[in-house]
Amino acid sequence: MGRTKLIVIFSLLPFVLIQQGYTQTTEEFLVTDFDGGGILPDAWSSYGDLGPYGVQPGRPNSDGKYYELVWNGSTTQGYIVSQSEITFRLIPKRKLKEKNIDNVYLKLDVNCGSAPGTVVNIVLVDGPNDCCTNEVNWIYSFTKNTCDWETIEINLAEFGYAYDPNNHEKSIDIHKVGRVKIGMDVFSGPQRQTVQFDNVALVVKDKVKKYNADTEIADDTTLKKRANDFYVGVAVNPRRIKDTDYSTLYKKEFNSITAENAMKMKSILKGMDTNGNLVYDWTESDRIVDFAEINNMNLHGHTLIWYESIPDFLKDFKGTNEAFETIIEKYITNVVSRYKGKVDSWDVVNEAIADGTSDLRKSVFLERMGPDYVKKCFQYAKNADQEVKLFYNDYGLIYDKKKQQGAFTLVDDLIAENLIDGVGYQLHIDFNFPSKLDIKTATDLIVQRKLLVHFSELDVKTNPKGDIETFTESRSHAQGKKIYEVVSVFNSLPKEYKYALTLWGLKDDDSWITPRYGFPDWPLLFDSTFQKKRAYSGFLQALE
Ligand code: XIL
Repeated sequence: MGRTKLIVIFSLLPFVLIQQGYTQTTEEFLVTDFDGGGILPDAWSSYGDLGPYGVQPGRPNSDGKYYELVWNGSTTQGYIVSQSEITFRLIPKRKLKEKNIDNVYLKLDVNCGSAPGTVVNIVLVDGPNDCCTNEVNWIYSFTKNTCDWETIEINLAEFGYAYDPNNHEKSIDIHKVGRVKIGMDVFSGPQRQTVQFDNVALVVKDKVKKYNADTEIADDTTLKKRANDFYVGVAVNPRRIKDTDYSTLYKKEFNSITAENAMKMKSILKGMDTNGNLVYDWTESDRIVDFAEINNMNLHGHTLIWYESIPDFLKDFKGTNEAFETIIEKYITNVVSRYKGKVDSWDVVNEAIADGTSDLRKSVFLERMGPDYVKKCFQYAKNADQEVKLFYNDYGLIYDKKKQQGAFTLVDDLIAENLIDGVGYQLHIDFNFPSKLDIKTATDLIVQRKLLVHFSELDVKTNPKGDIETFTESRSHAQGKKIYEVVSVFNSLPKEYKYALTLWGLKDDDSWITPRYGFPDWPLLFDSTFQKKRAYSGFLQALE
């Protein structure tokens, strides 16, 4: 006479309940309510029938049908009962993929149908057959004395007692668990046993963060404090770093800076004298470099080569291609050497790929130096400073697939020559575009190449189409959420690839967006009175 069980097994249909709050989500997958609800049998493979007793027509004071198992064995019969081969898959494998068993609960209503002392067993099995021969097999046993309906929730990770001691395992691989069986323990407890159950569900309680638009910001929290394994940067200009309202916040919140314009070629390279020597003006760039030095901030150099920042004498250069190339080599060598040990990283070439294509953008650099110009510029920079980190920086690489392809072809060539350390995604984005998934997928392309990631010029337009006159609540929410998504993606990267996340300015009214696109906008983390916006708290929340 073996141990015998009456067992019933189920299958389920996803029923989702998202709990309020951003630290925990609860998803409930209803297996069955025996009233036609739940995922049994459609989305679930099931086999066997419903056993000798089965679905009962009405549950007292309740919501309808329920399932009942009854054992009424006599003493002489002992505990022999034919085993019901009822098995339904319980675990919604697809839905639970990647879930941690610690967060998964079996939830059901139970009753002992006026048979107090019924010992209820719940068994998890991994294989298609019944117990005992399977690789893993757990049991959860409890005695029901009060025969009233009661809802119980059992954490699957707490199943610890093995039905077969040889299979005893304390931890459960959720991918192995195929079914749950609920039955009575007919070799212990009283002779007459009944178990009734209803509303069987699996509940997943994930510590998934959700954006909350209305969190309070603690006064002593700052962006750089929260971001403990990457730099938080801000684009600055020489005038604002001298203004204490700005510099106080720069120092408080950020530990990296980028010059918004002051280190671009047009700001530094002023022309060529009659002897053919290049004429430089270092006033503005030096101020930026000094500010970073004095305040012990990371300094990202932006940008050695950009088609939009070319001094006029080079735009319509009258000399030969060789002479042009020599000027570029000299320029890069001079700038990089001057700031060696002070600039931590450089955007060597900015925006080299044309929109909607995989081709190099038409520019005087391409025209004069040929398609290898990007590589040449990286080589000049590297020759001038072996230590400084070199980046390729661009926009649109998240959603413009052709451009992305072109950029990564370029990047792969630079990797092959050992000339590149990182890729910058500018992230001048909109409140509703691109999606978090697209940002993540595109960012993985950088990580897969083992390069540093810089989200280099983040701002989030709230009025890209010009349909609002004032900053609305709903755009503010959406902006906070988008920032939250961007920072979440960045923060989830492997530590060694997180370089910096840089905001393209401090206050809304200083942003380049309105002058550039013509619509009023509020793209940054602080408003025009230096107050923190929802976007700020969205940034912080992603780092909690
Ligand atoms: C912008 C500045 O913010 C403006 O002040 C300037 O007039 C034009 O350039 N991509 C870049 C940045 O790489 O250098 C640009 O900065 C914004 C787009």
